[in-house]
Amino acid sequence: MTAATVTAVIILKLTDYLEDAGGPVMRRLIIATAFVLAAAVGGYTQTGRLATNSSSPSYGKEQADRGKVVYSRYCSKCHLENLKGNCPSEDLSSTSYICAAPGNAPPLTGASFMHRFYSVGDLYSRVKWTMPVDKVASLSVEDNLSVVAYLLQANGIPAGQEDLKAAAAMKTMVLSRDASAGLGWHRGPVNSYGLFVGDAWLASASGIPGRPQRWDTVADLYNKVRTTQPAYDVAGLSTQEYLDIVAYLLKQNGLPAGKEELKNDINLMRNMTLDKGFERLFNGKDFTGWGFVVGPNCKPRPEGCGDTTPGTTFKIEEGTILNTGSPHGYMYPLKKFWNFTLRLQYRFDPYPGMESDDDLFTNTGYLLFITRHDVWPRTLEVQGKNDFEMSLAMGANESTFTFDDAARIRARKPVGQWNSVEIVSKDGQLWTYLNGTLITHVTKHPFTEAGYIGFQVESGPVHWRNIRIKAD
Ligand code: HEC
Repeated sequence: MTAATVTAVIILKLTDYLEDAGGPVMRRLIIATAFVLAAAVGGYTQTGRLATNSSSPSYGKEQADRGKVVYSRYCSKCHLENLKGNCPSEDLSSTSYICAAPGNAPPLTGASFMHRFYSVGDLYSRVKWTMPVDKVASLSVEDNLSVVAYLLQANGIPAGQEDLKAAAAMKTMVLSRDASAGLGWHRGPVNSYGLFVGDAWLASASGIPGRPQRWDTVADLYNKVRTTQPAYDVAGLSTQEYLDIVAYLLKQNGLPAGKEELKNDINLMRNMTLDKGFERLFNGKDFTGWGFVVGPNCKPRPEGCGDTTPGTTFKIEEGTILNTGSPHGYMYPLKKFWNFTLRLQYRFDPYPGMESDDDLFTNTGYLLFITRHDVWPRTLEVQGKNDFEMSLAMGANESTFTFDDAARIRARKPVGQWNSVEIVSKDGQLWTYLNGTLITHVTKHPFTEAGYIGFQVESGPVHWRNIRIKAD
């Protein structure tokens, strides 16, 4: 990635790649803001930012004098009293010098130093979050401000009327338009507080096969970036900038663009799956792609009495499907599956006055291989009932399987929390997982052809989200 790429205004189109399920489609206008992106793609190279309303650095003379005292006490032992640092044989005239040996403190004066920071805000953040190395982030706001004022003064920037303040204005006080943001020092093993954690981070975002995988959904990725990056200025970007960066990461990881922008809607993002090769079955907004059979002892209309609409049984609530519990029935994706990996998340709600998870009898399940709709149909049912999760129900007496109840108890999360389900069907065998733990392995069952997968309503409420499938 080059500086030109980063500083360019990049128009990206992103989609959640399931237009056939009516998924929201995102379009992204990216104004690539500097080093965060550069770091994200692994190139800690020269980068720059777009500034619209830049101003000159400004600090108070006495503030800088106070900063000199702070410097002597907390910084000079490494960077030396003359600010020249202790990198022995560096060519300090170069803007790309690296003071390679761990522990070597670089000079804090000179063109090469100033070139490393786009704005006073960047310099301030660097000091605030990473210095002094022997007691990181231990200085008060006042001391950090005054020591930065001192560094500005020592680098020939004249004092002004006003003191430097910890405010957004610092970010528009430009020091160097082609700054590398001091990132040279963050390379390699000394990188204890770098920006993105380099290749490992990106590699998992790009979807290494096998479990565990790090980002289920765009929401997980967005939350991680928003709450931990940039590491030297956590949560320091605007919501729009975070959205743009996440959109950019999606694009860089091969997800195709679409028509709508990625919006700050965490519930929608929760349903944007990132698993490689998986098709999203629920779009977070409506029931596109789903069929319904609702009504006790009912085949669907026209021959039966069953309702083929969501009725009062299924609702969409805050980006989740809410199974209200009655009337009985199920909803199913409008496709048949035989060999597949199904993943989803579910949540039970506690009821008022509930004292223990054992007192909740919410009952649902995943009805596999349905070929003739009915309530209830002939099916192999992976149990979803509270306290029996991922065991076998309907069809169990015709199957051979192992069920690890102790593993189920260890793996389950308390009522009120989201649990992850994975069901793998392969050539007549079946595996069920709860929060990544194998619970049931079916070595033999009587079903031999592809069928519908029913999301069962026997009682509620149950919430579902992030439902996705990979069919072979
Ligand atoms: C224990 C030694 C030590 C102390 C004390 C220390 N530093 Fe550093 N400083 C370093 C080292 C080593 C680096 C380079 C490696 C790194 O980034 O951590 C560095 C890097 C820096 C950088 C980035 C320079 C560049 O060109 O990227 C700045 C700015 C800085 N220090 C300022 C300060 C200030 C201000 C203080 C006092 C509040 C301070 N340091 C205290 C060791 C120290």
